[in-house]
Parts: sequence; C-alpha cells; structure tokens
Amino acid sequence: DTIKVAVFIGSLRKASINRRLARAVAQLAPDDVVFEPVRIDDLPLYDQDFDGDYPAQGKRLKQAVESADALLFVTPEYNRSIPGVLKNALDLGSRPWGTNSFAGKPGGVIGASIGATGSALAQQHLRNVLAYLDVVLLAQPEVYVQFKDDTLIDAEGHVSNEGTQKFLQGFVDRYVAWVRSHLQA
Ligand code: FNR
Repeated sequence: DTIKVAVFIGSLRKASINRRLARAVAQLAPDDVVFEPVRIDDLPLYDQDFDGDYPAQGKRLKQAVESADALLFVTPEYNRSIPGVLKNALDLGSRPWGTNSFAGKPGGVIGASIGATGSALAQQHLRNVLAYLDVVLLAQPEVYVQFKDDTLIDAEGHVSNEGTQKFLQGFVDRYVAWVRSHLQA
C-alpha cells in the first residue's frame, strides 16, 4: 500500500528554501511514499471560540492530518523559533479539546535557513511542541541545511551539491524505513 505523508512547510513564500527542501526529500523517496503538502496559507488565526463551531479550513487541516500515515515538518527559523503560520496550524490541528489530530502519528522534523545554524533552534522548539502533541518523532538524523548559496536546491527539488544530496538521501532512507516499521507495529 502507498504511504501517505502530510508535509507541513513553515513558510508561505513561493521561493521558500524550505519548500524546495521538501521537494528534494519527496524526489529522493521511493515511489510508494507520497508526500502531500498541507495547505496552511488560508487558515484563520486560532481563536478558542472556534471550539464550539470549527472553521472549514481547520476541519480540512485536521482531515489532512488524520488521513495521513505519517508527518513531515520542514521549518524555517524566524527569530530563533518557528514561524507563526506553522504554530497557528499546529494549534488548529490540536483542537477542539480532546480531538488532537496529531496524536500517535510518526513524524520527522527538518529545516533550512540562510544562517549558519540551519534552523536548529526552530527545530528544537518544534520538537518540544510536537512531543506535547504526542507525535512520535524520529530522533536522528537531524537535518540542518544551510543555504549559503541559493542554488543549493532548485524549485523542482534538484540538489546541486553531491554531499548534500547524499546526506538528504540518508535522511529519507532512514525516515521511510522508520515510518514503515511504525506502521507495521
Ligand atoms: C529570518 N531568518 C532567520 N534565519 C536564521 O537562521 N535564524 C533566525 O532566527 C532567522 N530569523 C528570521 C526572522 C524573520 C522574520 C525572517 C523573515 C527571516 C532568515 C531565514 O533563514 C530566511 O529568510 C529563509 O529564507 C526563510 O525560509 P524560507 O521562507 O526561504 O523557507
């Protein structure tokens, strides 16, 4: 059976290096693993008053998560944390109270930045939130990609640096094997 991975990209901009990183990962995965980006650009800002009558975009997001076999989070670093758009999506998916859509799903966290730390601090914050949301996180390998050069990964997900490509292949292989073992368990 095909494995469906719901992908959260924590950036809305078209030329996002994280969107490109997500494409690269999808390209390097076997054909039976399908990566589907989750739409987060049109979500309302979470409001606890929603819990009585959830907005359609919030329901759509929850359905995308619940129908997925696994999750992949690809995050930029904004001011040493995760972008608000990503946190908002996590908050919406976690509610109404008692209906956390993320619970028990296997997930991975990766990211890219133009800074030398490669989004490491944002990823650390994200891991904290996801642990609380009961996402079963792959610990290693960690993926901190620094885009020193904007051509490192193009819009189609082609990786220009051989070392980076091999490193990402290593992540994908381990992530996919781990998701398969989690689904069999
Ligand atoms: C950044 N950037 C950034 N980079 C970093 O390494 N650490 C940081 O704390 C921040 N903070 C930050 C805040 C805000 C508001 C912006 C807009 C940017 C730079 C960031 O790495 C760069 O803009 C990336 O290109 C963002 O990722 P996407 O949108 O290309 O995926």
